[in-house]
Amino acid sequence: MSWTTTQVTAPAHRIDLGIGQPDPALLPADLFQQVSLEAPALAYGTEAGDERFRSALATWLNRRQTQPASAGNLLVTNGSSNALDMICTRFSQPGDTVLVEDPTYFIARRQLSDHGLTTIAVPMDENGVDILELAALIDQHKPAFFYTIPTFHNPTGITQSTERRAQLVALARDTGCPVVADEVYQYLYYDQPPPDPLASFDDRAPILSIGSFSKLLAPGLRLGWIQAPQAMLAPLIGSGLLASGGGLAPVTSSLVRPLLEDGRFDHHLSRLSDIYRRRLATLVQGLTDHLDDRLEWTTPKGGFFMWTHWRNGADTDAMLLRAHEVGVGFQPGQKFSASPEQASAMRLCFAFYDEAKLTQACERLSRL
Ligand SMILES: Cc1ncc(COP(=O)(O)O)c(C=O)c1O
Repeated sequence: MSWTTTQVTAPAHRIDLGIGQPDPALLPADLFQQVSLEAPALAYGTEAGDERFRSALATWLNRRQTQPASAGNLLVTNGSSNALDMICTRFSQPGDTVLVEDPTYFIARRQLSDHGLTTIAVPMDENGVDILELAALIDQHKPAFFYTIPTFHNPTGITQSTERRAQLVALARDTGCPVVADEVYQYLYYDQPPPDPLASFDDRAPILSIGSFSKLLAPGLRLGWIQAPQAMLAPLIGSGLLASGGGLAPVTSSLVRPLLEDGRFDHHLSRLSDIYRRRLATLVQGLTDHLDDRLEWTTPKGGFFMWTHWRNGADTDAMLLRAHEVGVGFQPGQKFSASPEQASAMRLCFAFYDEAKLTQACERLSRL
């Protein structure tokens, strides 16, 4: 019996570096064969999510962030996408404006549009969003919130510096404009750990940090969290969705909790990071060997993506058909931004394929 489980598929002959998902070969089925279900997890759960899971998650997070979180600062979600959806429902009205980074994750934009929201893109530099521009746009548009990907940004790989984060948090506190930080790549670093999640900078600021196990364990778990001051979580916890259906992912969170508590998750994450670190190095080597004179890029220090630009300004959207002919794929810059300078960009994912395939993909890209 064939069982189709993948969201995106490419023809077998194509190495599609546009696929921004974990390598199916690295999904830890063995870990889930070791854990068993406890009966209470089958009941409707408490609105914020299973308390024991949230406590275990808080302990895990607190080993990695300076300002401690507690179970009361955490809300369990069905991954990051669901978290953003719930935030849109409770923090915006159709017709509102939301500020996003330029470029930004194209499916987040689609989610915002599903809620009838208008997006305005704010420029970034190598340290993250341009704070002066952001402040001016907040003043002008009174947005429902600002959506940012502060760590190992999708698509650019940029990580907001500590100084920039402090400025952003201060701006959120001063203006009251909520900041929604999508931090799905926060714990996938291949060099030094990145600065703390935004929500742990200042518990008086209206910041919602979103985390997810999709890239850390498996996307099929549909398990994530929002870390925020209790006052920011209250509208979410008080939603009709949770009042009717109870807390999210009671079964999944009960399976993941023991892995968090006894170090099996840490062990998996460290192995995963080693593999992704090598894959990133392989992609950099392949681009250097085959495309150094034609492409430019900045090497990210974590996450899934390498953001590259053709030096001759070639339009990558128009190039994609030819790329498919030579058996390679990528995400063209126009998906992430309307700015003309991003039309020559390609987002390359180094997480989905093994090293041999990444090298082969670079050789194929060089034929374009
Ligand atoms: C920035 C960003 N946010 C959210 C997601 C989706 O995460 P989840 O599976 O937790 O919904 C992705 C996946 O590609 C992503 O890159």
